[in-house]
Amino acid sequence: MESRGALLCIFGATGDLAAKKILPALQQWSNDNIPFERIWCLGRRPLDGPGYHAFVEAKGNFRLSEGLKKAIDYHRLAFDDAAAYHSLAARIGAEGFDPAAKRLFFLAVKPEAVVPIIDQLQAAGLFTTGNPEHRLLLEKPFGESLESAAAIQQRLLPLAAEEQMYRIDHYLGKEMIRNILTIRFANRIFTESWHGGAIETVEVISIETSGVEERLEYYDRAGAVNDMVQSHLLQMAALVAMETPQNLEPESIRRAKIDVLNQMRLDSLHPPVIGQYAGYATQAPGSTTETFVEATLRIDAPQWRGTRFVVRTGKKLGEKRTEIRLHFRPTRLCLNCSETLEAAPNQLVIEVFPQEGVQLRFNSKTPGYGYGVEPVTADYCHSCRMIGNKPEAYVKLLKDAWSGDKTLFAGFAELQAQWRIADEIQAAAREHGLVVYPPGVWDMREQGGAT
Ligand code: BG6
Repeated sequence: MESRGALLCIFGATGDLAAKKILPALQQWSNDNIPFERIWCLGRRPLDGPGYHAFVEAKGNFRLSEGLKKAIDYHRLAFDDAAAYHSLAARIGAEGFDPAAKRLFFLAVKPEAVVPIIDQLQAAGLFTTGNPEHRLLLEKPFGESLESAAAIQQRLLPLAAEEQMYRIDHYLGKEMIRNILTIRFANRIFTESWHGGAIETVEVISIETSGVEERLEYYDRAGAVNDMVQSHLLQMAALVAMETPQNLEPESIRRAKIDVLNQMRLDSLHPPVIGQYAGYATQAPGSTTETFVEATLRIDAPQWRGTRFVVRTGKKLGEKRTEIRLHFRPTRLCLNCSETLEAAPNQLVIEVFPQEGVQLRFNSKTPGYGYGVEPVTADYCHSCRMIGNKPEAYVKLLKDAWSGDKTLFAGFAELQAQWRIADEIQAAAREHGLVVYPPGVWDMREQGGAT
C-alpha cells in the first residue's frame, strides 16, 4: 500500500473549544489548503464521521466545507480505554499512514487527562517519544497551581521531550498581541519612553459579557485568576514589560519573558479584588470561585520602578473588550511661563478586541487664536486594512505548530513563573473575600464597597 502523510488527532473533539475554535480554524485554514491528510476527532460520544460533522456544525454554528468533511473522521474513545487507542491505531494503519510522518495531537482536555492520553498513545504506537515530527499541542490549563503543573511536567517528561510540546495560549496568536513587539521596538518614540520614568500605569484588561455557560465543571475549579490571569493576561503583561530580547528567535523572546515574569510580584498596598456575578451560585451552590479579578503587580527592576501593572478580567460585565492601556505620567506645560498648564496624560492603547488597532492620546492646541491645550486621539484601525478573512489566533497557532515554529508557544519555565504569580494572587485575594456583583455592570469594583 502507498504510504500516506500527515495526521491531526483532536482529543476533546465534542467539547466547546473544538466546536467553537479548533474546527472553525481548520475550516478557515482549509481555504488555503490544509496539509493534513486525515483529521481524527476523538471523544466519548457514540458518533461516526458524518454524525460528528453535523454535531460540530450545530454546536459551533458554522459550516464545514466538503473537502474538510472528507478529511475529518471520528473515533469513539474514552481517555483511559486502551482498546480504543489500539483500534484507532488499526484504523490509521489500515489507511496506510506512515508512522514516521508528521503527527499533531491536539489535547483539548482537562489537565489530569494529559499524561494518561500520551501514555496510551505511546503504548498503541501512535506517538514516539523524541520524534520531533510527533507534536503535542497542549491546551491550557496546564495544571491548577504551580505545584500541580510541576507534577504534570514531571510525569510528562519521560513520555515526551520538551521540544515535542507546544503549549497553547491562544492570546499569543492574536494579531494585536503579535503586534506588541513591533509597536514597542520599531518606534523610537516608544522605545525611548518605555520605562517607569515615563509610564505610571499599565492596564491589561480582558473583560467579557458572557458567563461560564456550559463550562461550569472546568470553570468552577479554575476561576478568573487561573482561567485568564495565569495565562493570557500575564503573557500580555510580560510582552509589554520584558527587556529588549537579544534577537527575535523564540528562545530569546522566551528568555526575556521569563526574566520579567520572575521579577513580578503583588503590590502589597493594593490587594487583589475578586468578585462573583450574582446568579453564579445558583449554578454552583456554595461556590466561592471568582468570576472577576483585579490585581496590581510591580516589577522589581530599575526600569519599572514606580509603575503599576494592573490586570483585570471578569465575566458578565458590561462589555467584551481586550486591550492594553499605557498611562503616561502627566506633563506640565510652560509655554510663555507666565502660567503653567497641566496637560492630560498621554495614553497609548493597544486594542485587541473588538477593535484591532492602536490609539494614541496626545495634547494639541485648541483650534483658533488662543493657546488652550486639549487631549486628542490618533486612531489606527489595524483590522480595517485586512483583505478577506481576518487571521484567527488558532489558525496561526496550528500553522506554526505544523511548521515547528515555537515563538508563540509557552515553555515550561515561563509557565512556572506565571503559576507562581497566579498562586500569589489567589492567596492574597482569599484574605479579602468575594464581592457579589450584578451581571452587566461596567465597573464591578463599585459594587459591594470594594476598592
Ligand atoms: C479562554 C478562557 O482561554 O479565553 C475563557 O478559558 C474566555 O473563559 C476566553 O472566555 C476568552 O477568549 P477570547 O479570545 O474570546 O478573548
